[in-house]
Amino acid sequence: MATFTTATEAPQVDRTPVGQRDTERDLPTQPDPVMACDDVSIYYGDFRAVTRVSMTFGRNEITALIGPSGCGKSTLLRSLNRMNDLVDGARVAGHVTYHGKNIYDRDVDPIEVRRRIGMVFQKPNPFPKSIYDNIAYGPRAIGMKVSNLDDLVEECLTRAALWDEVKDKLKQSAYGLSGGQQQRLCIARTLAVEPEVILMDEPCSALDPIATARIEDLMAELRRDYTIIIVTHNMQQAARVADRTAFFTALADEGTGNRTGLLVEYDLTSNIFRAPKDKRTEDYISGRFG
Ligand SMILES: Nc1ncnc2c1ncn2[C@@H]1O[C@H](COP(=O)(O)OP(=O)(O)OP(=O)(O)O)[C@@H](O)[C@H]1O
Ligand SMILES: [Mg+2]
Repeated sequence: MATFTTATEAPQVDRTPVGQRDTERDLPTQPDPVMACDDVSIYYGDFRAVTRVSMTFGRNEITALIGPSGCGKSTLLRSLNRMNDLVDGARVAGHVTYHGKNIYDRDVDPIEVRRRIGMVFQKPNPFPKSIYDNIAYGPRAIGMKVSNLDDLVEECLTRAALWDEVKDKLKQSAYGLSGGQQQRLCIARTLAVEPEVILMDEPCSALDPIATARIEDLMAELRRDYTIIIVTHNMQQAARVADRTAFFTALADEGTGNRTGLLVEYDLTSNIFRAPKDKRTEDYISGRFG
């Protein structure tokens, strides 16, 4: 089983809270890569859903993937932690690297990949268990060495900005929480197995604006310690939270005529929203398309 080298120190960057933050914080022109896609195409059977994507994901950054419905955002996101392995007929060509190692190599364990690269879904999906057991489940399932599980549960819930709301009802069912609380619980559950990267597929689309703002604040906090890659349909959200934004679109494949997802433009979020280089990006962000 291959091991991955973990990043050591986070870069010194501005951490002003979301909402007050100038999107032009001090970021390197090129991301300091934790993960990268190198010529990645993704197929469902013969259908090529995503075509030849190459991009890097920066350490301690939030990267947003945006674009019209069907352009392959979820498909690409799922390829970043081998979640597509679980989808019938899905196949990934090219390389997806994590600390330089192709996660699709034969000697890589997909379970370990998904521990290091966690995922939060569109609809909060807590287990039908207590709040406590939702957090404890992952570490127990993988036999993680934990000196004190109670402490770990508290730490994860604190990091996910949920502890104060649930500390007196840890043994109650997670289903008793509101949607926004459930989503923070799912984030806490992801943190419990000590990931480095967190993938989020439209994590706020089932939430009201207040719960959404809490998740956005939380993402800005988590960026100190984690790398976040988020799919969002909400362009204001991308503009608020993301350091870099990648715009995708779906174009008719030359060979088959099927629509396939392409990366159009990837840049600092401020550049994408203020000065996009590609007309297709401009049309999309100004609401003329999609
Ligand atoms: N399991 C699957 N089997 C076959 N085709 C699929 C599967 N999942 C997605 N697709 C197809 O792949 C393409 C990309 O889908 P995907 O869900 O990645 O798009 P998306 O950008 O996330 O869209 P949305 O914004 O609507 O969530 C679409 O044409 C879709 O129909
Ligand atoms: Mg999707």
